Parts: sequence; structure tokens; C-alpha cells
Amino acid sequence: MNIISNDCHVYASDSVSQDLARLLEGRDPAQVFLLVDEGSRRHCVSALGSQPNIPADHVITIAASDDHKDYTSALKIWEFLSSHGATRKALLINLGGGMPCDLGGFCAATFKRGVEFINIPTTLLAQVDASLGGKTGMNLGSLKNEIGVFAMASHVIICADFLRTLDRDNLLSGFAEMIKHALIHDKDELEALLNFDFENVDFAALHQKVGRSIMIKDFFVKADPKEKGLRKALNFGHTFGHAFETFAMRHQRPVLHGMAVAYGMVCEVMLSRDKAGLPAETANDIAKRIERLYGKPEVGMADAEELVELMRHDKKNETADINFTLLPQVGDVVVNQTASPAEIVKILKEYLAL
Ligand code: GLY
Repeated sequence: MNIISNDCHVYASDSVSQDLARLLEGRDPAQVFLLVDEGSRRHCVSALGSQPNIPADHVITIAASDDHKDYTSALKIWEFLSSHGATRKALLINLGGGMPCDLGGFCAATFKRGVEFINIPTTLLAQVDASLGGKTGMNLGSLKNEIGVFAMASHVIICADFLRTLDRDNLLSGFAEMIKHALIHDKDELEALLNFDFENVDFAALHQKVGRSIMIKDFFVKADPKEKGLRKALNFGHTFGHAFETFAMRHQRPVLHGMAVAYGMVCEVMLSRDKAGLPAETANDIAKRIERLYGKPEVGMADAEELVELMRHDKKNETADINFTLLPQVGDVVVNQTASPAEIVKILKEYLAL
């Protein structure tokens, strides 16, 4: 395994089965558990190969999708660990997308006040974002990640082979977070990403870009692990994005997280132009190029009030104002910015007319 990032403990692996076997050497199998969801059980467990240190009856399967990142699934994990004799020396291996990594991390971090966990992210979104940086949690009703703790995985294993199993929407969803990382920290990388050919995906090139993206996230996590200030840079696109995502879920037409973030980034690039001095030509060009790749959410101006209300309840707000991370220029951020409902509605209108 080659190290990609020190602070988030991320390693690139050419063979997840060999590298995991090495990590498990000398472990007591009675204390090793594997968490999968139905999707990763079907498509990804075979990549782990035979692992004598993971007993066959220590595989915990939870229902797939973000709807199940909830207390019921958490309870199932805690009860499984407890009834199978897990101690404080237990190790939980989370295999799958953001859902098993977030929820598994949360359950590990809270079981007996915290046991070790390893993340093996299998989606692009989880490889560049969800599995890294110690944010773990679960949803509370429609409130995403409302309950959670900071806890770092002891290892995050990134293997390019998983990316080949993803459909275009899942690739695009993860790619949105990569665009975000470039927008907040690396102007040259942004240009390369916006020119990436999604018609003929070059997986080797994508894997390299994943490494660069992880290093950018690592920079912000290291600077501010508990999100007191600079790490809020990573929330770029997420104030509008979370509102689009929650709106879509409430109206029974869920969208992938990264798609909603991409919609949110278009809005927040334009808001950065209006409020943070991002040059208009740059902002309008980036907004159009992201919009061309991702399209628009299924919302209209009649939904503006509900979207603003959702933004008001975003847990990123520390006061009654609606909080944003904005870009004075590409590669630079200002955190703790606010915008009024009228400014937000103006941006929405402009986006829907693009
Ligand atoms: N996903 C943003 C963060 O980890 O801070």
C-alpha cells in the first residue's frame, strides 16, 4: 500500500485482498467484524478475497441507501457487535459507499466508547470525501447527518478497481466533490477536471485525480479537524446542495448527494460573484460548465420559499443567518459568509434560467 495522506490515514491499494490480509495479520478473528450494505455485499465483498481473519458469521449486512442511515440500522450494528462478543479491542471494517462508512464509523466510535474501524470505500464519492476526515454519523428523519461524532478511521483503503463497477451517475456524483476540492484549492486541477472526458472514462487518470483530491481534503482536515474554521471550506456548494438534496428526498425523487452538491456549486459560484468578488467572467464560465455536465435539479421558482427554509435549518448555521462558504477567486475561500433570502432567490432564478 502507498500512503496518500497522513492525517486521514489514506492508502492506495492495488490489491485490496492482499493489503487487508496484511492489516489483519496477528488480529484475533473473534474481534474482527465486516459491515456491508446489500449493494456492497453483492458487488464488492468478492474483491476482499478469502480473509481467514474475518469469520463468516461476523458479516453485518444493513439495507442499502441513505434512507437507512438511521437509528434502526445503527441499533442493528450495535446489537450485532454486542451479541457476538465484541470488546473494546474489536475492529469494524466498513465496506461500501458513504452510507456504510459514515454509519459504521459512527457505530464503531460509540460502541463501548469507541473501537477501531477501517474504511474501504467503494464509490467515488466515498473515496474522495465520505470515508475521509473523521466525520461519522446518521440521519434523523429527513435531517441528514444530524447525529454524529468526529472519529478517524485507522486506515482508509482506496482501490481503483471499485470505480469500474460504478454507473455514470455515481461517477458524476463523486466527481462533483472532486470539482469542489479543485474550486477551493487548485485552479489548474479545476481546468483539468472540467475537461475530463466522461464519454470515455480513463480510469487510470481518474485514480490519479482521486489521489490529488484526497490530498486537498487532507490539507483542510489537518488544518482544522473539528471544523471550527478553515475546514468549512469543504462545505462549498453544500448550503444550496443540502437544500436541493433534502427537497428532492421530501418530494420522493431522491438525487445522489454529489449531484445535489454540483447543483449547489453552480449557485454558490454565482453567489461568490455577487458577494465575494469572484470575477463575473470566471464565475459565469464555471457555472455554465458545471451546469452542462450536471443539469439542474427538479425545482421551480414556486419552491424557492421551501428551499430557503431548508437552508435556514442547515446545521452549518451558527446564528439565524444562512451560512455560506464562498470563493473570492478560484483556489481561495472565505468561510462564515451570509446571504439574505432575497439574494438566494435571485441566484436560484438565474440558475434555473441558465
Ligand atoms: N464533507 C466535508 C467534510 O468532511 O468536512
